[in-house]
Amino acid sequence: MTTPVPDLAQRAAELRRHLQVYAHHYYVLDAPLISDAAYDTLYRELRELEETYPDLITPDSPTQRIGGPPTEGFRKVRHPGAILSLDNAFSADEVRAWGERMRRLIGDAPLDFVVEPKMDGLTVVLHYTNGLFTLGATRGDGIEGEDVTVNLRTVPSVPLRIPLSGSSLPVGEGAGVRTDTGRMPSDPHPNPLPEGEGMRLSPGDREASVPKRLVVRGEVLMLRDAFERLNADRVAQGLKPYENPRNTAAGALRNLDPKVTASRPMTLYAYNIVEVVGGPRLRSQWDTLTYLRAMGFPVNRDSQYARDLDQAIELALAWLARKPSLNYEADGIVIKVNSFALQDELGVVGNAPRWAVAFKPAPQEGVTVLRKIAVNVGRTGVLTPYAIMDPLRIGGVTVTQATLHNADYIAERDLREGDTVVLKRAGDVIPQVLRPVPELRPPDAQPWQMPGTCPSCGEPVVRPDGEAATYCVNSACPAQLVRNVEHFVGRGTMDIVGFGERMAGQLVSAGLIRDISDVYHLYEHRATLLQMEGFGDKKVDNLLQSIEASKDRPLSRLIYALGIRHVGSTVAEGLARQFGSLDRLMRASLDDVQAIPGFGPQIAESLVEYFGNPHNQQVIARLQAAGVKTADTTQAAPRDGHLVGQTFVLTGRLPTLTRDQAKALIEAVGGRVTDSVTRKTNYVVAGEEAGSKLDKARQLGVAVLDEAGLHRLLG
Ligand code: IVH
Repeated sequence: MTTPVPDLAQRAAELRRHLQVYAHHYYVLDAPLISDAAYDTLYRELRELEETYPDLITPDSPTQRIGGPPTEGFRKVRHPGAILSLDNAFSADEVRAWGERMRRLIGDAPLDFVVEPKMDGLTVVLHYTNGLFTLGATRGDGIEGEDVTVNLRTVPSVPLRIPLSGSSLPVGEGAGVRTDTGRMPSDPHPNPLPEGEGMRLSPGDREASVPKRLVVRGEVLMLRDAFERLNADRVAQGLKPYENPRNTAAGALRNLDPKVTASRPMTLYAYNIVEVVGGPRLRSQWDTLTYLRAMGFPVNRDSQYARDLDQAIELALAWLARKPSLNYEADGIVIKVNSFALQDELGVVGNAPRWAVAFKPAPQEGVTVLRKIAVNVGRTGVLTPYAIMDPLRIGGVTVTQATLHNADYIAERDLREGDTVVLKRAGDVIPQVLRPVPELRPPDAQPWQMPGTCPSCGEPVVRPDGEAATYCVNSACPAQLVRNVEHFVGRGTMDIVGFGERMAGQLVSAGLIRDISDVYHLYEHRATLLQMEGFGDKKVDNLLQSIEASKDRPLSRLIYALGIRHVGSTVAEGLARQFGSLDRLMRASLDDVQAIPGFGPQIAESLVEYFGNPHNQQVIARLQAAGVKTADTTQAAPRDGHLVGQTFVLTGRLPTLTRDQAKALIEAVGGRVTDSVTRKTNYVVAGEEAGSKLDKARQLGVAVLDEAGLHRLLG
């Protein structure tokens, strides 16, 4: 080759710089700038150059991440400062008590906080000298750790040189900084900082801020998706899958063969500066995170700024609710005093700082008296027993009622009226009656039995063989009718605005509604309505108007609104798509229904039975006569989008989206929404009051998302 070497040196330097920037965007910012193939081409060019001219190799070259020869053992290194650990708080009250203890020491100085996930990986201490990664150690006993530099070099998000010059780092105006309730900003969503708060790094500071020495603390871990891919590969090769991400990462980091480490996909999150010489003056934890990010370190994006302790607790609880759907493992959330001046004032006791606490709410249990076991009648006639208890404050809420599910649940625990019972509440999950305390049982307490007759209509109830549920089978049962009407007029069905639970009860007991088709004859009873409690002129007008408007709902909504057993909104949509009109659906045979992919005999039998019933036929005829639209064409789901082939189940109430909206969003990118959770379900999207579907998802290990997680997935 005739090209002069200086040009090659320049080219090598340029390749290095570009590859570092691309890798940073890929591994740290999760926002690749170029394709993998383009990256590989540049990488190969650099590697070939370096192979020909080994003098061109620098320690921060991306080619140096592959891991050197196996080591004999790890050298011990002393940490520059003590690597502290954390005290725990197991409830929001304990966090508040911690806040009060601090108050006694510092008076009423304003206290702001940073809330950071407590990542469950391995603590590492990374040393940079004049910007170059020179030493990486494990935590060890907090004073002395092991030198695992060669292994850490193979972790792609560990910067080999800081800062990354030439990259569009989130430093400077309007980036890398917080909003009032700041979340750690990440491209492409920088959070502007209100004037005069926090640290500012102007673009010029970037060069000036290469510290002579920087020692950073962080956590190395294996992300859940990477762990799953690794295991899928192992299984495909006939190898045993690894137990869990943490132990796999630990094994990899301390493996004596760096090539093994390199083959395990690990990630770094930095969160602390142990020592800095020749860098900017950092005054707070939030400054630190901002600075770390500006230097090119990955910082967990769920780290947030809180202006006071109440907000910190609120943010922590919101994060805890999302925890099951996160891509990293965490064993709690750390709340840290933001200001370093106050941190210093608060100091350290033992080996834990007073200014930080790890918030790990454990499921909470309490004891109260079960006064009565009452029974509720559902839409399909299922009798559900529930406990009425003396009020108990648990996990921050007062509980007076809890479902007891069915007769077996009560019999297995031998729960009796008058018993003192143990109640458990985990996170924001509905409270559970665990067991009675037999020692405190009143002598006259009797075993509980499901009533033989319906508490609403007085007709005999039945419990089919092999089922846990007991049913009221009287189709004229007023409780069922009320529930049926509620369902019919509800948000996901005919969506009659202003027609609530209470109104359904009132209209049924007044005899104005004897089946759902009576909803469309209410206008004939205007005078009677006006005499009822709470019904004024305006309200009646509005009600009649929204009833009129509901006649136009899509067919799928109407099918779902009928309340046919085993026909949820998704099944109803499939039926509407397949049959196009209620008339055609009514004529469908068992085989016709089962010909639809995913529809089994249960649904088919339920439909045939429902439409074969003369009473139901009459109801439908009346709906049609009243002008309710019973035919339409719905669009087919798209065949492309990034969620094609992925199945979702929605359960519970989401904070902002209705079920229909969530479904539409998922389907718009090719995903499919089904009614029941199976091994084939990819995601369960759970909101408040999610019930058995969530339990099932946990049982089967199906990924659970909250609404925020869903938005992320949808992109
Ligand atoms: S703060 C004085 N913040 O939790 C600082 N620790 O400390 C004390 N951990 O194994 C630690 N994420 O490595 C802190 N955002 C975070 C953390 C965190 C994970 C780990 C830490 C150590 C354990 C207890």
